[in-house]
Amino acid sequence: MQHSEGENPVLDDAYIYVCSSSELEEDDLIECKTGEETIVVGRGEGKVYAVEGICTHAYSELVDGELDGNCLTCPLHFACFDIRDGSVLEGPADKPLRVYKAIEYDGSVWVNYEGS
Ligand code: FES
Repeated sequence: MQHSEGENPVLDDAYIYVCSSSELEEDDLIECKTGEETIVVGRGEGKVYAVEGICTHAYSELVDGELDGNCLTCPLHFACFDIRDGSVLEGPADKPLRVYKAIEYDGSVWVNYEGS
């Protein structure tokens, strides 16, 4: 997500604080909840991304899965999703994950819970 210099994107009420940037290292996953939404945030190839935190195949919390590069693997039946756009890279899941905007600003990771 691009922002012009000086603009503070997290002044938008839709952004919620997730963690400090240093807490989310490469291939780390962290879960955050807002209302009824469960969101999983990960760092893949240096960038932060956020997708819905429950697998679209059956009920499984993706924060317990693994992130390898951009491939987020479900811990239950091992479907693989592209964390950048939520698409299915490998079944058995056949529905993509909802995607949220994730940004790093001022040493912290933020997610826009309204989705993209
Ligand atoms: S619950 Fe995720 S692949 Fe089945």
